[in-house]
Amino acid sequence: MKVLLVGNGGREHAIAKKIAESASLTEFYSIPGNPGINVLAKVANTENTPESIANWAKDNNIDLIVCGPEIPLVAGLADAALSKGIPVFGPKKIGAMLEGSKIYSKRFMEKYNVPTAPFVVLEDYESAVEYVKAHPQQYPMVIKADGLAAGKGVKIATDENDAIETLNDYMVKGTLGEAGKKVVIEEFMPGEEMSVFYLTDGKKFIRLIAAKDYKKAYDGDKGENTGGMGCYAPHQSLTEELSDKIENLVMPGIKRGFAEENFDYRGVLYVGLMLTKGGPKVVEFNCRFGDPETQGIMPLIDEDLVKLFYQAACGNLEYEEIKWKDLYAASVVVASAGYPGSYEKGKEITFETSMEDYIHAGTKEVDGKIVTNGGRVLNAVATGKTKEEALNKAYELAAKVKFDGSFYRKDIGS
Ligand code: AMP
Ligand code: GLY
Repeated sequence: MKVLLVGNGGREHAIAKKIAESASLTEFYSIPGNPGINVLAKVANTENTPESIANWAKDNNIDLIVCGPEIPLVAGLADAALSKGIPVFGPKKIGAMLEGSKIYSKRFMEKYNVPTAPFVVLEDYESAVEYVKAHPQQYPMVIKADGLAAGKGVKIATDENDAIETLNDYMVKGTLGEAGKKVVIEEFMPGEEMSVFYLTDGKKFIRLIAAKDYKKAYDGDKGENTGGMGCYAPHQSLTEELSDKIENLVMPGIKRGFAEENFDYRGVLYVGLMLTKGGPKVVEFNCRFGDPETQGIMPLIDEDLVKLFYQAACGNLEYEEIKWKDLYAASVVVASAGYPGSYEKGKEITFETSMEDYIHAGTKEVDGKIVTNGGRVLNAVATGKTKEEALNKAYELAAKVKFDGSFYRKDIGS
């Protein structure tokens, strides 16, 4: 099978490694790729837009497109490729809107009784300010930009000034561009967060093992929210009781909604949950795998990934469950100083072992050298018979790579 992988982050490199192991694979391409992925796949020489990717895939007899990130899906990659008869692992635009628009996704949850925080939609600055002024008791107040904002579109406002400043940034100054012109304001839900991932062909939903993501930049959950600074899997808090609650309270509405809205959703549904006293509630949906959770999940899958993704992409998942290796996985993100705020790029990376021992997230090759090209630069990933063994091995690896300003959390797994 000829596979084209779309994306250039750590998540895609982790998927690429698993695709490369598949017995069904005959040829492997990626766009845009990164130095880690390029060891495994040839770069597809075309523009990185849905139409060009679909045309290139058609001209090159690609059997399956696997899309890692949300942006191409929200932009209609699956629609473009499916219209040419090419199966895509990743939903069409209508399903991707569950991530692409908070307003759309909250209204979906309301319509299908999916437990979530009560919310209002505000489409202009004046009415948003009026709402804030009329609700002095509602702090902390959660303000969400409607559109995609690369993880920067949610503010937990602590008081009225904070709320109005956020609304001014999003809706007047346009700090998030079009994404922030409309907002959702919702109730704050206290509790622990957990993400669960479902592989689906639109009809059958197979839950994957859970991974614990460490979102804050520094040890002890200090500092700003990031895309995720590391993970381990399987997540130990996903008990059978919690699993039953998720399946009985959260999933029925989602499944009904998917069927009634005719999403024909093929790929991964990421359900971000808050485990509140009143039971699990949905914080957000994403239309793709998590990053860095994928780096922890992929090494544990004991199946042919291409076969699995192909069946889902064809709307015909024959699997009833997925076999998992009896191991733990851990991933430690090595990041650039300043991340998740501003940081410098282009720092040369020194590998004590080999660049191929790491998952590449934000790297680039310049004149034969590997340099930093993002906030999250590399993932040190390892598996082990116990969680401790996996973590120790991942940390040993993390200590063997350096660049100017590199840092990583020392407490992943705690
Ligand atoms: P989202 O992009 O909707 O997942 O929001 C980003 C992060 O903001 C979440 O991972 C939570 O940590 C936090 N968050 C979002 N909505 C709420 C809420 N209603 N209550 C508490 N925390 C929230
Ligand atoms: N690690 C969180 C995310 O991928 O959205």
